[in-house]
Amino acid sequence: MKIAILGNGGREHAIADQISKSPKLKKLYCLPGNAGTKFIAENVKIDIYDFDKLGNFVDEYKIDLVIVGPEKPLVDGVVDFLRNKGIKVFGPNKISSQLEGSKIFTKKICEKYKIPTAQFGVFNSIKDAHKYLEKANKPIVVKADGLAAGKGVYICEDTDSAKNAVDEIFNGKFGRANQVLIEEFLKGEEMSYFVISDGKIFKKFNTAQDHKRVSEGDKGKNTGGMGAYSPSGLINKDLDLKIIESVIKPTFKAIKEMGETYEGFLYVGLMIKENNPYLVEYNVRMGDPECQTILPLLNSDLLELMLSCCEGNLENQTIRWKNKKSLCIVLCSNGYPDTYKKNLEIPHLQKITKNNSTFIYHAGTESIDNKVYATGGRVLNFVNISEDLKKSRESVIKEIENLGWENGFYRKDIGFRIIDK
Ligand code: AMP
Ligand code: GLY
Repeated sequence: MKIAILGNGGREHAIADQISKSPKLKKLYCLPGNAGTKFIAENVKIDIYDFDKLGNFVDEYKIDLVIVGPEKPLVDGVVDFLRNKGIKVFGPNKISSQLEGSKIFTKKICEKYKIPTAQFGVFNSIKDAHKYLEKANKPIVVKADGLAAGKGVYICEDTDSAKNAVDEIFNGKFGRANQVLIEEFLKGEEMSYFVISDGKIFKKFNTAQDHKRVSEGDKGKNTGGMGAYSPSGLINKDLDLKIIESVIKPTFKAIKEMGETYEGFLYVGLMIKENNPYLVEYNVRMGDPECQTILPLLNSDLLELMLSCCEGNLENQTIRWKNKKSLCIVLCSNGYPDTYKKNLEIPHLQKITKNNSTFIYHAGTESIDNKVYATGGRVLNFVNISEDLKKSRESVIKEIENLGWENGFYRKDIGFRIIDK
């Protein structure tokens, strides 16, 4: 089969790596891909948000399946566009993607189907929001409704900063806004829970915990993710059942009652408090870096799984996992998540060990004349799988030190809540 993967991050490199192992694969394209995917696929420079150009590519290269990595094309309706042309696509359609595309859409589902989540209010004017904030308990969480590349969430310690967040949102910091979401601050520990669905049924696709803050001890600014480990230390049978029954099943029921179906990965972002789940957010794709962390544990053929989702027969598939744990550390450009230098060379990449337990997935990299350059804030994902997360972390740190890239930094404490407790 001829497959095209949309996206250029670590998540897409990890997906490409799995797909490249499938006996069903004939040719793999990454649109646009990165310096890592170049070794296992053909990178094609194409604007994936220009659907007409994308459609032409898919026709011309006779692509059998398109796999969508990031959320934006999904929310923009790339699945509907390609399906209308008769092309198989792995990912949810435009309406179902509102689970990530609109936080208010999801909150309304939570309200109607009694899904546990933070208490919330939706406000249509600055004045009403400010008035509410005067009396509300702090800390409090203010959120822009739409996609904001991970930046539209403000955790506010006092009334003034919460009012400022409301002002920024209404003043268009994340695009035109006529509503703002204000919610209760949930205390607890976060967990990323994944499922895969064919529109009829869903199956669990492992768990992880990521570290979003830039500095050790989970301090400092929010980032796209500095590292993760899998499975989450929080998961147990009782919690698993609660997540499925009280969060995921009612969500799929809501989608069905809208007359829609959901095909693809669903990322369930949860806060766990006293072994009870509260929904924080949905993402309509795999997590990044959770995807890079989880996929090396997979023992099944990912391409077959994805195809079964497009064909409505996930029921016949068994998802098998290695009986191991996984840990991923992200090597970032100095300065990230603020400003950082671009186009700096990363020499000595050939020094990195590659075997059945050590993986390296590129994120913000580009290859020019056989040299690799850093082009993004998050640059390389180092992953190790073993029986012991501590051992994996030591091994990953050794690899990063071995590379010795002077323009980067990373967190040495990924997994500390479970490893160092
Ligand atoms: P979101 O984009 O909604 O996932 O929010 C980004 C991050 O903000 C989450 O991963 C949490 O760490 C934090 N967050 C969001 N909503 C809440 C909440 N109600 N209580 C506590 N933390 C939250
Ligand atoms: N790891 C967080 C995300 O993918 O949104």
